Amino acid sequence: MLKVAIIGSGSISALHLEAYTRFAERCEVVAFVDISAHHAEARRDEFGLTEARIYPTVEEMLAAETIDLVSICTPPSTHEALSVTCLNAGVNVLCEKPMAPSLAACDAILRAEQASGAIFASVAQNRYRDDVAQLRATVESGLLGDVSRVVVDSSWWRGLPYYDLWWRGTWEKEGGGCTLNHAVHHIDLLLWMLGRPEAVTAVLANVAHENAEVEDLSVAVLQYQRALATVTSSVVDHGEPAGITVQGRHASASLAGEVVADLSLPNGFRVPEGDPERVEQIRAFTADLPPLKYTGHTGQIDDFLTALETGTRPAIDGHDGRLTIEVITAIYEAGIERRAVDLPLAAENPFTQDGTLLERAPRFYAKSASVQDFAEAPATQTADAEKAGAAR
Ligand SMILES: NC(=O)c1ccc[n+]([C@@H]2O[C@H](COP(=O)([O-])OP(=O)(O)OC[C@H]3O[C@@H](n4cnc5c(N)ncnc54)[C@H](O)[C@@H]3O)[C@@H](O)[C@H]2O)c1
Repeated sequence: MLKVAIIGSGSISALHLEAYTRFAERCEVVAFVDISAHHAEARRDEFGLTEARIYPTVEEMLAAETIDLVSICTPPSTHEALSVTCLNAGVNVLCEKPMAPSLAACDAILRAEQASGAIFASVAQNRYRDDVAQLRATVESGLLGDVSRVVVDSSWWRGLPYYDLWWRGTWEKEGGGCTLNHAVHHIDLLLWMLGRPEAVTAVLANVAHENAEVEDLSVAVLQYQRALATVTSSVVDHGEPAGITVQGRHASASLAGEVVADLSLPNGFRVPEGDPERVEQIRAFTADLPPLKYTGHTGQIDDFLTALETGTRPAIDGHDGRLTIEVITAIYEAGIERRAVDLPLAAENPFTQDGTLLERAPRFYAKSASVQDFAEAPATQTADAEKAGAAR
């Protein structure tokens, strides 16, 4: 029976707790750590974990408990220190996205993982969605042909009060805007399908949040050897029409399940009726794929527990988390410096280091409020966010 501690008992911790309590025969949540004890008490009571102990710091928790794994559900700027402390104590770590706000911080975590022998995994729960799994399998099958273009729309909508929470809306505590904190999910999915691009160009803007330092909109072009991907990161899109569409040489497919295929006439224009056989073949392929056993956080936590139980690597690890941060760092560098950035980023590139974004990123607006707690969001909000693969 694996002993679990939850570090940070805010919104996202609920999804970790749902998964751990669902796997009650495999693990037990025995401790909570939170700088606000009432958050931990509320979660403990909500999940009926009456025996679990509550600590104000991770150090006190580690000194008092024997723990196998922690879920880190705290703001991004805390991920490095908390992860390294737990790994150094030999405790396995599942850390919420984004892995850390800088590549130097990601590397410190990976070094602690290597030195300790404990496992670090970065949350990317949207890989555990049936639509995502189907799209990736379709790309891998070759039925679309060579990928020529991908349109990634990380399109969300957040009102002004969103950035009033104390840790959001500053480069220091949130680490960045919607490119880092929302599009991290879609960028992870793109990289899972296509791998690391060769170069990135980008534009950053804040078009509707006059109370936040960070960007609320960015558009990036990721250049592959024979393909381009455009990534729009937004929290200004009404209705949140997020999605991914992959164009291949023979056909296109999208997360929404659309499949389109064209054939050429002798003059190069498209055959009006398209290529129904190809479309049928792709539809049959996806219809044959088995549904995932568990989805979202529950899917990733099932995999993480399995890795610990069997001594294997988790499906998503710190190298995946780092790659996503590398591409996001390149987007920020390209947007701030107004030039194309080649990947992989060299170790001596200042943007890989802590503090460079803080030093060079534009402050679009001053953060104008700092709210400690919002009233609890409606219960459906977290569940909807999970279904839609949303980010915060
Ligand atoms: N995977 C997803 O879809 C998803 C969705 C939402 C949030 N997140 C991520 O989860 C993390 C937390 O986000 P949230 O929305 O739950 O935030 P939140 O503000 O609702 O909760 C954070 C909690 O951490 C506590 N905390 C802060 N610093 C701490 C520290 N040093 N030690 C112990 N406790 C500390 C706070 O008191 C609070 O209870 C962020 O990294 C965010 O990006 C991921």
